[in-house]
Amino acid sequence: MVPEHVKTRAFPDQKPGTSGLRKKTRVFMQPGYLENFIQSVFVAIGGLHGKSLVLGGDGRFFCPEACQTILRMAVANGVERVIVGRDGLLSTPAASCLIRQRGADGGIILSASHNPGGPEGDFGVKYNIANGGPAPESVTRLIHGHSTRITEFRTMNTGGDLDLGRTGEVRLGSAIVEITDPVEEYAGLMERLFDFDAIHGLFTSGFRMRFDAMNAITGPYARAILEERIGAEAGTVIRAEPLPDFGGLHPDPNPIHAAELFKHLMGGNAPDLGAVADGDGDRNMIVGKGCYVSPSDNLAVLAANASLAPGYSGGLKGIARSMPTSRAADRVALRLRIPAHETPTGWKFFGSLLDAGQVTICGEESFGAGSDHIREKDGLWAVLLWLNILARRRCSVGEILRDHWKEHGRDYFSRHDYEGLDSDVATGLMDRLRERLTGLSGKEAGGRVVKAADDFAYVDPVDDTVTEGQGVRIWFQDGGRGVLRLSGTGTEGATLRVYLEQPEPSRHDLEPQSALSGIAAAVDSLAGIRESTGRTGPDIRT
Ligand code: G1P
Ligand code: ZN
Repeated sequence: MVPEHVKTRAFPDQKPGTSGLRKKTRVFMQPGYLENFIQSVFVAIGGLHGKSLVLGGDGRFFCPEACQTILRMAVANGVERVIVGRDGLLSTPAASCLIRQRGADGGIILSASHNPGGPEGDFGVKYNIANGGPAPESVTRLIHGHSTRITEFRTMNTGGDLDLGRTGEVRLGSAIVEITDPVEEYAGLMERLFDFDAIHGLFTSGFRMRFDAMNAITGPYARAILEERIGAEAGTVIRAEPLPDFGGLHPDPNPIHAAELFKHLMGGNAPDLGAVADGDGDRNMIVGKGCYVSPSDNLAVLAANASLAPGYSGGLKGIARSMPTSRAADRVALRLRIPAHETPTGWKFFGSLLDAGQVTICGEESFGAGSDHIREKDGLWAVLLWLNILARRRCSVGEILRDHWKEHGRDYFSRHDYEGLDSDVATGLMDRLRERLTGLSGKEAGGRVVKAADDFAYVDPVDDTVTEGQGVRIWFQDGGRGVLRLSGTGTEGATLRVYLEQPEPSRHDLEPQSALSGIAAAVDSLAGIRESTGRTGPDIRT
C-alpha cells in the first residue's frame, strides 16, 4: 500500500463556520470535496506523523463512506493510530471524551448536528483539538487558508473498505485502527459524575421519564445508560435506532421540531420528565410535566443545583454563558460568589476557560449545556444532572423552576429566527444597524428607551485573543435586552437570530411570548426587521 498524491482543485466555499464545515450532503459528495477539506485539516495541524486521531459521526447519510475516505487519507498522511467508533458511530460528547481519555492529538466528527440528514439534507465535518473541544479560530483559519490553495490530497488504495462492525485493533498500512465501543468510555465517565444508585432509587419510586432520541446518535447511549445501567423501565428511550435520514425527523431539540415529546409532556398522563437530544447528541431539551424549561433557565438551574451531584460536590469554579443566553446564570454566579463569563456564540470559546480551570459549567440558549468533564456541550449529561437533582430534591421539575425564580427572579427569554433570508438583505440589515449603534442610546422605541448598544467584542481572559463583530446588543432602561446576529451554521441563505430577554423579579407566571412582545416590537422598530426582510414575523420562536 503506497500513498498516492491526487491532483485536485480548490473549492471556494470551505470556510468552517460556528461549528466546523457544514454543507448540503450533495456538496460533500462531489468528488474531491471531502478530501480537500480533510487534507486541509491535516496540513493545518502540521501533518499527522506520529499522531493519533479519534474518528466517528452521528450515523447520518454519507457517514460510512466519509469514514472510509478519512481512514485511507489519515493512513496516507502518516497517522500512527486512529480510534474509531464501532460502525463509525460516535456522539459529539463521546468523541470529546475519547480524545481526552486516550490523550489523542485530535478528532474528526462527522455530523451536521441538528440539521436534517439524508441525500437532500446536510452533512458536516468538525475538527476537535487535543483538549477534546472544537478547533479554535487560529486553527480554522489555517484550515480555510489551505483549502483555498490546495493542489493535491493524499490517499491510498487499501484494497476495499475496512470492516468497522467489530471492535478490536486492525493494521491498515503503517497505522493501527482501533475500533472501539462507542458508548463504553462515555458511560463510565457519566457513572463517575452522577449518583446512579440515587437515580435508580428515583425510578423505583415510580418516577417516569421519556427520552426521545429522534432516530439519531443518542439512542444507543441513552439506552445503555438510562435503561441498562440505571435501570429505568424498558421503553423509556424511544426512537433509539440511529437512522441515516433520522427517519425523516429534524433532530433539533426545541418545542417545534420535538413537538411530539413536547405535546406528550403537556398532556394528561405525562411522565415526570421528558428529554430530547439532537442529531449528534450534544444538545438537549428538558420538559417537565406540563412545564417547559427554557435553555437559559436550564443553565441557571443546573448551575444552582450542581453540587447535589457527586462530580460537582466541591462546588463550581465559575459559570460561562454565550452572549445571547439570558443573564439568569449570572445571578446564580453572584449568589454562589463565583465568576460569570459572557462569551461569543459557539462552544469553542468555552474551551480556554475550561482548560484554565476558570469555569465548571457552561451553556448556550440554543439548547446546549455542559461542564469541564469534556470540551463539548453534552445532551445526556444535562439529562443525568437533572435526574441526579430530582433524585436528591424529590420534587417536580415545575417546583424546581418556581423555587429558582423565587430565589433569583425570572428572565423571560425567547429567540426569534428569520430563516432563509437573502444573504445581502440580512448583511445589509446588520451593517446598517452597526452604523447607527452610537446614535441608539436615548432613542425611544415601542415605549422603551435604549440605554446603550454595542457590537459584542470578546477578549479571552486566558490568552487575550480578541474576537469582534459577535452580534449587536441593545439594552433598554427597564432592564430588557435585545440581541441580533446572523447564524454561522445555516446552509441555505442567511438566518437572522433575534434574542429577546426581559428580567422580572416578581411576576413569574406570564406566558413568555406575551411577556416579550413589547421588547420584540422595540427591537423590530430599531433594526427595521420587517421593513428590510418583508417578513411579517419570525419562522421559529424558541
Ligand atoms: C448555532 C447556535 C449556537 C451553537 C451552534 C453550534 O449557531 O446558535 O449557540 O453553538 O449552533 O451548535 P449559529 O447558527 O447561531 O451560528
Ligand atoms: Zn449538535
